[in-house]
Amino acid sequence: MLFRGKMAKKAKITIIGAGNVGATIGFSVMHKGIAGEILLIDVAKDKAEGEAMDLAHCADFCPPVKVRSGDYGDAEGSDFVVVAGGAARKPGQTRLELADVNVRIMRDIMAQIVPRAPDAVYVIVSNPVDVLTYAWIRLSGLPRNRVVGSGTMLDCSRLKNAVASDLSVDPRDVNVWVLGEHGDSSFAVWDSATVGGRDLREMYLEKGVPFDGEALMDAVRGGGADVIRRKGSTFYAVAMSVATLIEKMVEDAGAYVSVSSILNLEGVGDVCVSLPCSVGSDGVRDTSVPALDPGEAVSLSESAGAVRKVLDSLNLT
Ligand SMILES: NC(=O)c1ccc[n+]([C@@H]2O[C@H](COP(=O)([O-])OP(=O)(O)OC[C@H]3O[C@@H](n4cnc5c(N)ncnc54)[C@H](O)[C@@H]3O)[C@@H](O)[C@H]2O)c1
Repeated sequence: MLFRGKMAKKAKITIIGAGNVGATIGFSVMHKGIAGEILLIDVAKDKAEGEAMDLAHCADFCPPVKVRSGDYGDAEGSDFVVVAGGAARKPGQTRLELADVNVRIMRDIMAQIVPRAPDAVYVIVSNPVDVLTYAWIRLSGLPRNRVVGSGTMLDCSRLKNAVASDLSVDPRDVNVWVLGEHGDSSFAVWDSATVGGRDLREMYLEKGVPFDGEALMDAVRGGGADVIRRKGSTFYAVAMSVATLIEKMVEDAGAYVSVSSILNLEGVGDVCVSLPCSVGSDGVRDTSVPALDPGEAVSLSESAGAVRKVLDSLNLT
């Protein structure tokens, strides 16, 4: 096994796209102490170089790590490749509208990186993340378990934060899954949701706080757009979610996270959307379908249908 144990080698993490998201992922993984080497690649070479220099200047304040920018040839031996390059969402633009332009960019990136890092686990972050994760699996030739979309890990955190704020509790003690597309058709699974081991909705009742699941989920679905309207883009929360995902894969303990992977389930079909997945150093090991009430089962199927509709409009051969 790669990373466990005192003398084990730390991960080599290549990040493609050194924009707001990619550079902040670099910053976040540095704090985790899981990377021995971080390589930034971007078509804007000066930008990648500047970000790598700025990150390297953290040397005195974080666990040892070599940070540099480079070309695809430098990516050999990568344990993880994070794909955060491409166009970002403009105010008012949906993630799915980004699909066509970013699939073309993905084709260009995969042609260059996959031959150099054929054994890495690929974490897809660029949007629309479910569509692009599917495109990577279908077009790259990589085994499906080694392509993981960052999915709804971020949405789970947004919902936990909103619930925690309603109930005045620690967000980390809120257990609730947001599943489906990372986007407008995501949904929460309320029946299994707990706070401190208690039923989440009972907690609202007990604390005298009105529970409105749809309003909470509207805030989650609109959370990214709300930030983009105010500051132009989102990057801190997604970067922390990706760094946490990589940390869990490095730990290799089989943690469950809501990430996007390929599904071929009854009522879902041949798409990528998020379900709870067990992850390890070889990527996605297992996908779990939690107990869904009839409405949530419809939501999952509709969410998968929304992603499938975009996939059908693209030429993925
Ligand atoms: N999955 C999520 O939860 C989530 C959250 C936020 C943003 N995103 C997505 O992440 C992506 C990056 O967002 P950002 O805010 O960092 O954008 P950005 O514009 O700041 O950075 C994008 C970078 O990609 C680079 N790039 C473009 N084409 C490239 C190519 N062919 N090869 C290498 N690099 C290339 C650009 O030069 C730029 O530096 C977007 O698609 C955005 O929608 C995803």
